[in-house]
Amino acid sequence: AANQMWGGRFAEGPDAIMTAINASIGFDKRLYAQDIAGSRAHAAMLAATGILTNKDALAIGEGLLTVLSEIEAGDFPFRVELEDIHMNVEARLKEIIGEPAGRLHTARSRNDQVAVDFRLWVRDQCDAAITGLEALMRAFVAQAEAGADWVMPGFTHLQTAQPVTWGHHMMAYVEMLGRDRSRFIDARARMNECPLGAAALAGTSFPIDRHMTAKALGFDQPTANSLDSVSDRDFALEFLSASSICAMHLSRFAEELVIWSSAQFRFVRLSDKWTTGSSIMPQKKNPDAAELLRAKLGRILGATVALFTIMKGLALTYSKDMQEDKEQVFDAADTLMLALAAMTGMVSDMTANRDVLATAAASGFSTATDLADWLVRALGLPFRDAHHVTGTLVAMAEAKGCDLPDLTLADMQSVHPGIRAEVMDVLGVENSVRSRKSYGGTAPDQVKVQVARWKAALA
Ligand code: ARG
Repeated sequence: AANQMWGGRFAEGPDAIMTAINASIGFDKRLYAQDIAGSRAHAAMLAATGILTNKDALAIGEGLLTVLSEIEAGDFPFRVELEDIHMNVEARLKEIIGEPAGRLHTARSRNDQVAVDFRLWVRDQCDAAITGLEALMRAFVAQAEAGADWVMPGFTHLQTAQPVTWGHHMMAYVEMLGRDRSRFIDARARMNECPLGAAALAGTSFPIDRHMTAKALGFDQPTANSLDSVSDRDFALEFLSASSICAMHLSRFAEELVIWSSAQFRFVRLSDKWTTGSSIMPQKKNPDAAELLRAKLGRILGATVALFTIMKGLALTYSKDMQEDKEQVFDAADTLMLALAAMTGMVSDMTANRDVLATAAASGFSTATDLADWLVRALGLPFRDAHHVTGTLVAMAEAKGCDLPDLTLADMQSVHPGIRAEVMDVLGVENSVRSRKSYGGTAPDQVKVQVARWKAALA
């Protein structure tokens, strides 16, 4: 039989496989709350503008609430032959209230309907991402506050570079996550325009009030061009792009946790809550959550690339290709929220091994730069010469199998006769980090400034 929603011109119904490839209800049922909210706003506006009678609009509004409670109670008969959430809701409304249900779709199309539903859904996800990021940032700030002055090795190329503080390293992630947060805030602000009323693509001849529906649905204003309204999904792409960047940041800390929790590093102890054992090796405590977090960007970036590829080259306006937008965004959003929650738990529950960090901070000639800087400051050497003298001392220490502070003054003077005993002060890691008090540097005082600023921002 031909479709009851659009089958007027059709003599026969679709092939079963056509129904299967065409239907989106299997996944877009997730938009039910947004769909019903959009329809309720639309019906109220149709009544306010005199397009519908108050009586019909009231019946529609109440009927939609019944549909909502049926779906939330889990006893809504979703039907694949009704294609999508929009037609499933409307068909059920008709069963409940009869004839007025057929008037709801006046001055509307599924094209603007799906655009508004999906925007509302993605907007909620921006809010969830912002909330999740703030919780994670607080967890990092708490770690930073506890260990603002704990020394640890700073790395470049994963080779010992210079001593830094634990708090400084934690706050580096707060900066990254803070930018992620602002990306979601920006994306949300940009997407907060209401496409409802664009109808199929050209607008409508009915005297609708798009400002009224926009306001009712919490949008700042209606979208300004009806063709654009039904054809773009850049708001979803912005959400996915921001999610990808955020997941990339999470993957970097995840990798650090995998390295740091190994028996060879022992920088941190992960809580039992975020690790698993091995069924054969009794000693194992594997950082599975960190490994999975390292991997999650794969899914999220995959979804991002998928939607870009779906949208690329589509002539205006709506094409059914765009129905493929939802599963990508749903999966990416679910993945991101889970990842943020897991990372927050792991960061809150991890324990830094302060002693191990301090020992590691002092190894690998980590204060060689401090020594070179001292040669510049105290002896007036050009930095390039100081670099060379220090390199020679590093080679000497390496040959002796010791670290820089273990060299005797005589050893040092054999390389440069001007070196004095006070040089020993700059070779300690505590002095090293305390000295790096340039704005944004690793000195505990600077870290405390960063912590205070973010604590206030996140309060
Ligand atoms: N299920 C469709 C989607 O997700 C809704 C819009 C359908 N519009 C249309 N003209 N077929 O994109």
